[in-house]
Amino acid sequence: MTNREKESFEQLFGGIYRNTKVLVTGHTGFKGSWLSMWLEKMGAQVCGYSLEAPTQPDHISRLGLNMDSQIGNILDKDHLEHYIGTQKPQVVFHLAAQPLVRLSYEEPVETFTTNVIGTLNVLEACRKSESVRACIVITSDKVYENREWVWGYRESDHFGGYDPYSASKGATEIAVASYRRCFFHPKDFGKTHRMLICTARAGNVIGGGDWAKDRLIPDIVKSTSKKELVVIRSPGAIRPWQHVLECLSGYLTVGWKLLEEQVDCAEGWNFGPGDGDTLTVEQILKLVKECWPEMDYRIDSPDNHPHEARYLKLDTCKARDDLKWRPYWDAATAVLKTITWYRNFYEKSTILSEQDLSAYVQDARRGEAIWTKS
Ligand SMILES: NC(=O)c1ccc[n+]([C@@H]2O[C@H](COP(=O)([O-])OP(=O)(O)OC[C@H]3O[C@@H](n4cnc5c(N)ncnc54)[C@H](O)[C@@H]3O)[C@@H](O)[C@H]2O)c1
Repeated sequence: MTNREKESFEQLFGGIYRNTKVLVTGHTGFKGSWLSMWLEKMGAQVCGYSLEAPTQPDHISRLGLNMDSQIGNILDKDHLEHYIGTQKPQVVFHLAAQPLVRLSYEEPVETFTTNVIGTLNVLEACRKSESVRACIVITSDKVYENREWVWGYRESDHFGGYDPYSASKGATEIAVASYRRCFFHPKDFGKTHRMLICTARAGNVIGGGDWAKDRLIPDIVKSTSKKELVVIRSPGAIRPWQHVLECLSGYLTVGWKLLEEQVDCAEGWNFGPGDGDTLTVEQILKLVKECWPEMDYRIDSPDNHPHEARYLKLDTCKARDDLKWRPYWDAATAVLKTITWYRNFYEKSTILSEQDLSAYVQDARRGEAIWTKS
């Protein structure tokens, strides 16, 4: 990176992350690895706390970051508290979780334990630390009670969840709201406490570096790279698709606001794609095929699979109005970037993550994103 590029990265988000100590839980995973890279580029001092990378191949080990990486379990409360106490982060992005719907049917208790108790352990560790000023807890678009309706869910809608994963994330929202009311009430900020907490709910996130089981894009690229047919479960399922950098820009925006002590931002936020990018699985397959013509698929019988919601949309008016956040890559661009990333990985054994980040920031700058202005 040239000095000029370095400086321009450091100025993003009002320059708030430069020299700031940031903890990312789940840094060995898909989103956490991208977030750690972005933070490091902005001059943050990044540290991470997670189990080992959940898949092989993985993204984090290929990024060559300088961050302090601690392998640990968020259920190991003492270890986690010790780590936070020693590292003294000013802001925590909590992404460590059991994030898979189908695995949650096989391991419901483990899913609830990791997602709910694990989050409480993170909040407790933050509560005991004197350094943490902001905590951004990543939940999911699936936190809302799904009514199978065509409208997007708003932040004021009821939490719920049919499958154990969705319910565990709905329960996480309730746990965070309780901590906010009881220990970190925004109206008491600066009097009884110095930390602001929010939650962030994003859509179906795609991008290079994800090899998780039973997710559409990883399933497609794993099968296509081996010249096998992709097995599709629910071609008609409608989801809010977005590139990983889109939701990360939302997390970083709200983190910036919390670090600036904007107490009204200590609440829940949806970061989803534009309305036109809530597409069916079949529409995504068509976009993929344009980028990777060798991809082919067959549709599996729906009887072979546990329940998954059919319609899921997020309403993002609140983030657009209050944070002036908005997406910059539509679904077609997100798919193109993602498939190009994987083709490059499988065909040339290199990764395009830095290039994707630079291209995204450039497009956001062109679109006059609030977080690109100095
Ligand atoms: N990827 C998506 O489409 C999507 C959509 C909505 C929400 N989310 C949420 O975003 C967050 C990150 O998801 P992801 O896609 O990067 O998942 P991922 O599986 O790639 O990463 C999960 C991370 O959590 C860590 N982890 C799991 N259990 C842990 C434990 N007990 N202790 C410490 N670390 C543990 C893993 O090691 C990994 O680093 C999760 O909270 C997930 O629920 C993801």
